[in-house]
Amino acid sequence: MNKSFQPTKISDSVWWVGAIDRLIADFHGYGTPSGTTYNAYLVMGEKVALIDTVKKGFEDELISRISSVIDPSRIDYIISNHAEMDHSGSLPYVIDQIHPEKIFASAKGVETLKAQLPIEHDIEILKTGDSLSLGNKELSFIETRMLHWPDSMFTYFADEGVLFSQDAFGMHLASYERFDDQIPESVLEWEATKYYGNILMPFSPLVINLLKKVGEMDLNLKLIAPDHGPIWRNKIGWILDLYRDFALQKPTNRVVILFDTMWGSTTKMAKAIAEGVESEGGDPRLIPLSVSDRSVVATEVLKAGALIVGSPTMNREIFPSLADVMIYLKGLKPKNLIGASFGSYGWSGEAHKNLDQMLKEMNVDIVHDPISAKWVPTDEKLMECFELGVSIANRLSEEQ
Ligand code: FEO
Repeated sequence: MNKSFQPTKISDSVWWVGAIDRLIADFHGYGTPSGTTYNAYLVMGEKVALIDTVKKGFEDELISRISSVIDPSRIDYIISNHAEMDHSGSLPYVIDQIHPEKIFASAKGVETLKAQLPIEHDIEILKTGDSLSLGNKELSFIETRMLHWPDSMFTYFADEGVLFSQDAFGMHLASYERFDDQIPESVLEWEATKYYGNILMPFSPLVINLLKKVGEMDLNLKLIAPDHGPIWRNKIGWILDLYRDFALQKPTNRVVILFDTMWGSTTKMAKAIAEGVESEGGDPRLIPLSVSDRSVVATEVLKAGALIVGSPTMNREIFPSLADVMIYLKGLKPKNLIGASFGSYGWSGEAHKNLDQMLKEMNVDIVHDPISAKWVPTDEKLMECFELGVSIANRLSEEQ
């Protein structure tokens, strides 16, 4: 049995046995330059449970890590907290290798796993409040529908205070460090923000409810063990507070200025707006789409108070990079933003008007008519952009 991949003991009876993916650069459209991990966990009782598996292609790594703890054929139960393929893709192979006595998932999980994967084995349904005995230990379950899929579920191991939270509280970060306190806080904050902004932002009202529900359960949490990135042990309060802030999306003084350009005119306008924001003590985040991807934009927008978007007109439309990001942002449903649009044009000039319409469709509160510049912005036009930045920064300052 290959034991070249090592597990990590995270509590008296729980082992991390997941996989590290340093090569993934794009996770279904989410840029992952830091890679990711697919976390899976073994809970060792008189019965042995495996919580989640890994993406297809990483099954050998999973089985190797398990083998350093226990003969994989001794696993009795597999629990699927989340049916998305990065946690279930290797499940058919794993079932074949270990022949578990039982497999468990939420009702939607059973449906989703069977629809996606060739699984003949029966899967038993778990509901909120159900418990599963491991003989001398017990697991319990909390359904977390639409966080972020209909099947999503938490498993709680009260004996050792471990909450297995699937994607929630996770991040795409490949590392050999398994715990929060082994990674700089600035890295944790950026990656957790990026993960929430790109995966969980549309479900923020549900996150507020879930945090309330978990708070009322008064769990004695010692570890939060997500399906991606580090395990929380020293910063549990910190990550819960961060999630509360993310979910509420209270406006800040951050102004995201998102733009692309053909020959530099729209860039000049964007920079003038940023100068105006900065002059009033605001926090301009100038994002040229020629060098930024959509997942960085979502990360910045999550903690912003304003979204200002600029595009040159090309073929009577907005620039393609803006079209991509605006559709992406619309799906993520950011809240509590004010905004405006701008852009340059040569002869028709539709882009800034179309962007204005897209902002309205995203429920952004438009605070200024679109600003347009024919060919190259004049000094007067650049001052108009500067003043837009000033007024946006002042408005955000008044709201805080
Ligand atoms: Fe990590 Fe929703 O999968």
